[in-house]
Amino acid sequence: MLTESLLKARAVAREASNSAYIPYSQFPVGAALMLDNGQIIAGCNVENASYGLSNCAERTAIYSAIAQGHKAQEFAAMLIYMPGEKLYSPCGACRQVIAEFFDPGVMVYATCDNDTYQSWRADELLPGLFSMQQK
Ligand code: THU
Repeated sequence: MLTESLLKARAVAREASNSAYIPYSQFPVGAALMLDNGQIIAGCNVENASYGLSNCAERTAIYSAIAQGHKAQEFAAMLIYMPGEKLYSPCGACRQVIAEFFDPGVMVYATCDNDTYQSWRADELLPGLFSMQQK
């Protein structure tokens, strides 16, 4: 069962998915990046005719937060919403970006239209990641 704060984040992510620009996949995705002060930064997927330039909801939310002046240290959790009854996990590109900005123990939650969810620690999503930092 989703907790109250995750239900709130899912509502934000679901609402954001309504803004998705998805002429190619018709698959709307929403993300809710939860900050340590309770604020939520939303993101949606934005596709492109040159498919590889498409941006996932997770990266939109993270880049929006950075562009708004937030710092990685404020990132407390991320929730993604994808429509339907099936849970999906973040793509490889998003895992690399999550690894860049999330502390190892920050949680990532996948949700859908029922009340099941799946969760991972950020450091579970991309073992053996490429990093320039001495961690
Ligand atoms: N997508 C996301 O936004 N997040 C993911 O983690 C996986 C996939 C988007 C990319 C594309 O616009 C659509 O979903 C279908 O792959």
